[in-house]
Amino acid sequence: MQAQVRAEALSKTYRVGFFARRVRAVEDLSFEVRAGEIFGLLGPNGAGKTTTLKMLLGFVKPTSGHAFIAGRRAGTVASRRQLGYLPENPALYEFLRGDEYLIFAGRLCGLSRADARKRTAELLERVGLAGRADRPIRKFSKGMVQRLALAQALVGDPRIAILDEPMSGLDPIGRKDVRDLILQLRDEGRTVLFSTHILSDVEAICDRVGILVEGRLTDCGALADLVAPGARAVELVVENASPDLVARLQQDGTRVLQRDRATVLTFRDEGRARAALSAAVSSGATIVSLTPHRRSLEELFVSRARGKAATS
Ligand SMILES: Nc1ncnc2c1ncn2[C@@H]1O[C@H](COP(=O)(O)OP(=O)(O)OP(=O)(O)O)[C@@H](O)[C@H]1O
Ligand SMILES: [Mg+2]
Repeated sequence: MQAQVRAEALSKTYRVGFFARRVRAVEDLSFEVRAGEIFGLLGPNGAGKTTTLKMLLGFVKPTSGHAFIAGRRAGTVASRRQLGYLPENPALYEFLRGDEYLIFAGRLCGLSRADARKRTAELLERVGLAGRADRPIRKFSKGMVQRLALAQALVGDPRIAILDEPMSGLDPIGRKDVRDLILQLRDEGRTVLFSTHILSDVEAICDRVGILVEGRLTDCGALADLVAPGARAVELVVENASPDLVARLQQDGTRVLQRDRATVLTFRDEGRARAALSAAVSSGATIVSLTPHRRSLEELFVSRARGKAATS
């Protein structure tokens, strides 16, 4: 099936200051978001997430490379018809009331007045603002503005939602509400691409993830694939291990812990664990468990972010 969002070798270099110093925000970035999936673009501050999303929307012109939305070139009217967008720092018309703003946004998307009103009522309910949007936006709290901006992103009934840090500024209940909303959008068959630096949000809802560090994509794939193959350590628990067996295995740089009758051996990789397992079996020890230690997303993220910082 056709990718809903596709970045092909996108790069963006900004020119800043009087001497037009170059800032490389994004470099040679390629990835795609498939129909009906939730894709999380994860990266530390300044990694280039917002720049990437803006290139996909056609708000920032890439220095090189191409972006496509549902097969159409990014920035064209046809590509934008498919999209709903939540900006990083939503600046809404503060003198309008929340409900007026949504009706206005709906009218801009081509809805009739009656449809815009109906849709506004539904969306206010959906984002938890029902009964609270009848006042000027300047009197909204930060979390209320974020919720209203999210409703605005959905007012045109988009096939694809691009959300720049959708959980920012929200309290724990608000974060949960927005996670649930994103899952519902997927259940309705929509495609969601969102950026964040919050690992738990990614772990909770994403089908696939891209890790962006200093403008480059270091990893991209299903969460299980990113986190599992890095299983670095393998833990073997045996009982009745002879001192001879323990001594042999320990020489291998393996960590050994004695816990009552059990010996807990932690190996650095699977190869060593396999060899130890057969040695343990042939020495007559009882095998209790063999557990690969999955690398957590946090470990992966921190190692990527640190690795880049160390080499730059
Ligand atoms: N309009 C601009 N002009 C010049 N430099 C810019 C501009 N926008 C972003 N940058 C630079 O590009 C780099 C990436 O910024 P970007 O906003 O894309 O990062 P981000 O991953 O969204 O960060 P955050 O998590 O803080 O929102 C940064 O070094 C930033 O200073
Ligand atoms: Mg950003």
